[in-house]
Amino acid sequence: KELHFVVLLGSLRAGSLNGIVARTLPQIAPPGVNISLLGSIADFPHYNQDVQDKGIPAPVLRTADQIRHADGLIIVTPEYNYSIPGVLKNAVDWLSRLTPQPLTGKPVAIQTVSPGAIGGARAQYHLRQSLVFLDAFVLNKPEVMIGQAAEKFDSERLELTDQKTKDFLVRQINALADLTRKVAP
Ligand code: FNR
Repeated sequence: KELHFVVLLGSLRAGSLNGIVARTLPQIAPPGVNISLLGSIADFPHYNQDVQDKGIPAPVLRTADQIRHADGLIIVTPEYNYSIPGVLKNAVDWLSRLTPQPLTGKPVAIQTVSPGAIGGARAQYHLRQSLVFLDAFVLNKPEVMIGQAAEKFDSERLELTDQKTKDFLVRQINALADLTRKVAP
């Protein structure tokens, strides 16, 4: 069957390099895979159990539902101060409080983009740690860490221009599809 993956973006800025990659994924999805973007996590309030007790906010419920109905999740995020952005952690924290918890048993691939040399590698391992607690099936390889972004993007036209990077993204999507078929045949 055709697999459906959804994309969660960890940057809120309009010209986000990670956002460019997120929006490229549906265009380069290989045969047998359909990819769509989740709504912005900008609409999630700061996590607060008092808010949760009054009712889970609609954007959180909507995102959780979309993740539950998807075969897999791709998280595309910048690295902030050697970790993940607070807004992404906030989103993960909200999602973790729902029942059923939408990330349990969910195949997940991580992608990071940075103008720096090592492409957000450190953020990946912080994100992976939270996903281990949430019992997601995080894809091990290939690890997509897109560094030296200035050479690979046209940031005026908001386009990923480097073909090798696109090919690499397709390889990871195919690996996520293989993992998905293994864990949820
Ligand atoms: C950064 N940036 C950054 N880059 C990196 O490779 N490692 C890091 O630890 C950090 N830390 C960091 C902290 C904060 C608060 C900001 C705003 C930025 C640079 C970052 O990779 C760059 O701004 C990216 O362009 C952000 O991703 P988007 O928004 O373009 O997707």
